[in-house]
Amino acid sequence: MAVPALEAQNLTLAWGELAVADGISVHVGAGELVCIVGRSGCGKTTLFHALAGLEKPASGKVLLHGEDITGVPGRVSYMLQKDLLLPSRSILDNAALPLILRGVGRDEARAKARGFFPTFGLEGTEDLWPAQLSGGMRQRAALLRTYLMDNDVVLLDEPFSALDAITRVELRRWFAGMVHELGLSALVITHDIDEALDLGSRVYVLDGMPRQGRISRIVGETAVVPDGADRARRELAELLGMA
Ligand SMILES: Nc1ncnc2c1ncn2[C@@H]1O[C@H](COP(=O)(O)OP(=O)(O)OP(=O)(O)O)[C@@H](O)[C@H]1O
Ligand SMILES: [Mg+2]
Repeated sequence: MAVPALEAQNLTLAWGELAVADGISVHVGAGELVCIVGRSGCGKTTLFHALAGLEKPASGKVLLHGEDITGVPGRVSYMLQKDLLLPSRSILDNAALPLILRGVGRDEARAKARGFFPTFGLEGTEDLWPAQLSGGMRQRAALLRTYLMDNDVVLLDEPFSALDAITRVELRRWFAGMVHELGLSALVITHDIDEALDLGSRVYVLDGMPRQGRISRIVGETAVVPDGADRARRELAELLGMA
């Protein structure tokens, strides 16, 4: 098998005394878009923190193209569950922020970010404030900012959940096309099964209730094949105990 773009091997995750998840092994192939579903509080965001190197797992490894990056931040791009744009900066400056944080000069950072505005459907919004954009546009700006973190692997924590149903479907399809066009590999958290099936080529199910003493594990994985959405939906519902 080709070396995955991102791989978690046997991660154990905890917050102090709270054991959250154990035996977590997931991978994303190069160019692949994979989803993770699971009920609220099961540990999806906690897993992303470990994959992004923001927290060191209690045990296990995170590999990026085979390289051990366990506990190393900045190697994968990460869009937080609440990815708020800075309200007092223009959309252009918000998008350019990761470049500036990396030490790129302001003019160069702005020029580079500006070049991607048409690709992200944001042309003409450069000098607006976040409050002047629609929810979908704000999400696209946040996605552009994440993209400009400049890694080929992106982690997105419920990127579309705050949007209305129509915008949400439009934006996620646009995003799937973008992942392909820009040559990215992506892991996306959602608790919407239909969204997972629409986006991912595979869907992992994380299940457990850490606060009730039931540690979370990956309880299954469903491949999404053309015309196989109904079967995959049944599989996922069963894995989540909703069937
Ligand atoms: N910073 C923290 N300190 C202590 N416990 C935390 C912290 N963040 C999360 N937890 C706990 O870890 C468990 C998993 O939380 P997490 O945020 O990963 O869930 P989630 O699956 O992302 O949920 P949601 O779908 O609601 O976003 C929860 O029991 C939560 O209370
Ligand atoms: Mg979360």
